[in-house]
Amino acid sequence: MSELEATHDKRPARKSDVIIGISPWIKELHERIAMVASTDVTVAIGGESGTGKELVARTLHNFSPRKRKPFVVVNCAAIPESLLEDELFGHVRGAFTDASHDREGLFAAADGGTLFLDEIGEMSLGLQAKLLRVLQTHEFRRIGEDRDTTVDIRLVTATNIDLELAVAEQRFRQDLFYRINVFPMHMQPLRERLEDVPLLAQHFLLLHRDKVSKRVEGFSAAALAKLQSYDYPGNIRELENKIHHALVLVSGEIIEPEHIPIADNQTRKSVEIDLNTDFRDLKRDVIENFERDYTIKLLEANKGNLAAASRQAGIDRKNLWAMARRYGIEVRHIRARTRGGSENDS
Ligand SMILES: Nc1ncnc2c1ncn2[C@@H]1O[C@H](COP(=O)(O)OP(=O)(O)O)[C@@H](O)[C@H]1O
Ligand SMILES: [Mg+2]
Repeated sequence: MSELEATHDKRPARKSDVIIGISPWIKELHERIAMVASTDVTVAIGGESGTGKELVARTLHNFSPRKRKPFVVVNCAAIPESLLEDELFGHVRGAFTDASHDREGLFAAADGGTLFLDEIGEMSLGLQAKLLRVLQTHEFRRIGEDRDTTVDIRLVTATNIDLELAVAEQRFRQDLFYRINVFPMHMQPLRERLEDVPLLAQHFLLLHRDKVSKRVEGFSAAALAKLQSYDYPGNIRELENKIHHALVLVSGEIIEPEHIPIADNQTRKSVEIDLNTDFRDLKRDVIENFERDYTIKLLEANKGNLAAASRQAGIDRKNLWAMARRYGIEVRHIRARTRGGSENDS
């Protein structure tokens, strides 16, 4: 198998191809996917690396009438320009010195299905012109051939650069931009929807625990708090790697903060201020996050002893108990974890 074939993907749908999350943005994403999946509309997905662009493209295909036909992935950044043209269009025997056989291109391979052009912002201006022609005429020509072939493809593109800026700087054709940008979707970075982290973390735990052959069941509250205090420049892919890493390190059934590869100076201490959020909502979020983190740390430091913890914090024991309940913090778990089992005082 040639190195380039790795970018050409026809693997069948997997159980794990599911978009997980509870944030308002994820709900909106599901709605947007439902709006266009059944159509042939060209979708342009923007967003940082690791936010789920390819997963969305795959989902659009799996929910479309084309689902039994190929889903072909081409990463425009991974392939040098001259090879990319050959990959996409194919060639006939004798078209150039090395062309000893006819070669079917990826446009032909995707016929009837979906073509996913990843990192389309990296495509050269010359190839952009050729792509535009295929999109306008539904025809393409193999290299060295003198007649056109008709194709029926649904195009989905992705990019992590600002295509409008690329158009302004004449690195990207404006006509192609309009042609592909019919239904734009923008992926939200994970750090702006940290409420999705616990569910995603559990999803990746179930997905990867068999690889380490361990019976790991979940995360402690403190471990989840740690996972939610990080910025994830690599987004969901980075979270997935961290869970995989934690599964390698853990020996019991529960992942604890020390198993999670996030350094203390990488956790977020200040608040991101989003002026689109109502002041009272934001303030409530900040306070809730603080109360949750504080309660966990306090109870852990006091080995789950409520009397000692409330004394240290200078708050009423009943209030501390209520706060723990409110955030689903299991005092007896903290007790069992920090002192190895005994649960007899509170
Ligand atoms: N909402 C989500 N739910 C579950 N898994 C996700 C989600 N978003 C992304 N992933 C997973 O994270 C990894 C990175 O996603 P990917 O689609 O490759 O990102 P991108 O194409 O934007 O770089 C993949 O393993 C993907 O399945
Ligand atoms: Mg990608």
